[in-house]
Amino acid sequence: MHHDGPGSGALHCGGGLTAMTLKLSYPATAEDYRARARARLPRFLFDYLDGGATDEQTLRANETEWDGIKLRQRVLIDVDQVDTTSTLAGETCDMPVVLAPLGLAGMMARRGEVQAARSAEAAGIPFTLSTVGICPVEEVQTSVSRAAWFQLYMIRDRARIEALLDKAWAAGCRTLVFTVDLPQPGMRHRDFRNGLSSSGARAKALKAVQLLSRPGWLWDVAVRGGPLNFGNLSDVVPNAGDLDAFKSWIDAQFDPTVTWADIEWLRRHWKGTLLLKGILDGEDARQAVSVGADGIIVSNHGGRQLDGVASGASKLPEIVAAVGSETELLVDGGIRSGVDIFRALALGARGVMIGRPWAWALAGGGEAGLNNLLASLQQELRLAMTLTGVTRIADIGTDQLDRNSNPEPGKLGEQQ
Ligand SMILES: Cc1cc2nc3c(=O)[nH]c(=O)nc-3n(C[C@H](O)[C@H](O)[C@H](O)COP(=O)(O)O)c2cc1C
Repeated sequence: MHHDGPGSGALHCGGGLTAMTLKLSYPATAEDYRARARARLPRFLFDYLDGGATDEQTLRANETEWDGIKLRQRVLIDVDQVDTTSTLAGETCDMPVVLAPLGLAGMMARRGEVQAARSAEAAGIPFTLSTVGICPVEEVQTSVSRAAWFQLYMIRDRARIEALLDKAWAAGCRTLVFTVDLPQPGMRHRDFRNGLSSSGARAKALKAVQLLSRPGWLWDVAVRGGPLNFGNLSDVVPNAGDLDAFKSWIDAQFDPTVTWADIEWLRRHWKGTLLLKGILDGEDARQAVSVGADGIIVSNHGGRQLDGVASGASKLPEIVAAVGSETELLVDGGIRSGVDIFRALALGARGVMIGRPWAWALAGGGEAGLNNLLASLQQELRLAMTLTGVTRIADIGTDQLDRNSNPEPGKLGEQQ
């Protein structure tokens, strides 16, 4: 749980000595990179990345409820050859992990989406570019040879959607992640406090104070990392240079009238793989399959939409039961370690997405930081396989769950 992690604790103490200790120590976990990101980013950006909706209960549940899934330690099995390779959306991946789409990631590090795509390619896993990323899809695709997954929100202007789909296809993207849990952005109190929803002099002053306290970020990202606008939308949004104007345009463009009929429309327009992201209910999961989605990403948007919904960990068994193991099922929310990845697979997911951790690593340690984090996740996953006695990803399942400590898989959601 990140609230009392060692890194953040050190920072709370304040002082030059703790800052120096933080710099000299070796980051080992997502939490360690979170502490570094916090020290590096202006407050309003760190809070935008880190925070969730309302009281952040769902955000906390996402992070803590994986811990409740106990694994089965097995011994004296030949685990000389442990292989984390798997297939996601028809693509071979070195481990069953995808970098989740994060809006504004290019504000967390210079040309952040490009760095993340390079790091994902080096780790042999897919990177997902958000509709509201800073770097346009063409910029990302020219810096890597692995095709990114492209994430899309339904915006009111359908002609614009078609143009975006064409653009992503032309850039080489073949997997579309269509996010359905955001008919409107959730209530994020941290953003409100930091003046992100205001444009007056007070909000500007607040932002300026926060910016001036982070000169390293200012020079590296704000001065040398431009243009800082929504790259995929820059040709349609008025006032291309003004991020606040962009934000109001986008807020007005989110389309709350979208229904399953629009997904059928989308299915006809996208020739590649279609994954629906933001499904948290068995009935919706069945409907997603019946309108032709190739897969589902079980997600509550990292606890940023409706506070009070259950965690991905607790909903996963219900959704696996609803759609069966034939459906490509990914899950996200609170995955912080290789053991968490293993837990998600044991509960029936084919793979996971990670969100905040990749941006913490990039903000706190640059591309090398993200490379390290991904290597560490893979090593931890490999070790979890070794110590539970499975050598192939496809063999991970409920058999690796400790039956005495866990409720029946179908009942996991009820007890947490
Ligand atoms: C800062 C931030 C921005 C996000 N932007 C998007 C987005 O543009 N599109 C989207 O589908 N999901 C977005 N998400 C949700 C993530 O894709 C993912 O579902 C979530 O972060 C997973 O939880 P985790 O951060 O605990 O790993 C965002 C999440 C965060 C934290």
